[in-house]
Amino acid sequence: MTQDEMKQAVAQAAVDYIKPKLSEDSIVGVGTGSTANFFIDALAEIKHLFDGAVASSEATAERLKNHGITVYELNNVAEMEVYVDGADEFDGGLNLVKGGGGALTREKIVAAVAKEFVCIVDSTKKVDVLGEFPLPVEVIPMARSYVARELVKLDGMPVWREGFVTDNGNLILDVHDMEITEPKELEEFVNNITGVVTNGLFANRGADIVLMGTEQGVETLTL
Ligand code: 5RP
Repeated sequence: MTQDEMKQAVAQAAVDYIKPKLSEDSIVGVGTGSTANFFIDALAEIKHLFDGAVASSEATAERLKNHGITVYELNNVAEMEVYVDGADEFDGGLNLVKGGGGALTREKIVAAVAKEFVCIVDSTKKVDVLGEFPLPVEVIPMARSYVARELVKLDGMPVWREGFVTDNGNLILDVHDMEITEPKELEEFVNNITGVVTNGLFANRGADIVLMGTEQGVETLTL
């Protein structure tokens, strides 16, 4: 099975998982990335079963609309049944690193609103200790150098994702060489650096369930 086939399988598994929870009033939060794109395509098949979606990026909004799925502004939504998104890494505590696609801030906001966060990944994303994937940090442009110096103090190696601007008009620093043994604490610490919008650790609000595509099929992981 290729990595794309595993992504497609978990995307379908996510649709099967959320289907019984949906009603005509339900709003589905939708993440960003290649796995989320497979999910959007599968979700389109059941679009008659729910009201609409909230997108975590402009790219996702575009794909949802192309499928004829109504996209709502988050500010106009009081309740969200479920949020479905991929991840760049996850550990045994269902803590995640996200933001490879640069949508981390909107992803974190939508995840915060949702009653349940379903994370969809292939088995290459599982790690014992987070940090093999560089940790994305969204920063206000004028704070880029200052935040980078502060991140070096944490023994990380921040690299400016040059040429990339987030949907919020900000920049990304990808922090290499981190061994993240205390994800909740590090998430809070990095978010407290002045000029940081948010970082890609999803530990204080991690996944409630991870659907992981493997060669043998889709595994369901919960705490
Ligand atoms: C985007 C993300 C994605 O969920 C993450 O990068 C995984 O992407 P993919 O499904 O393409 O591997 O956080 O900001």
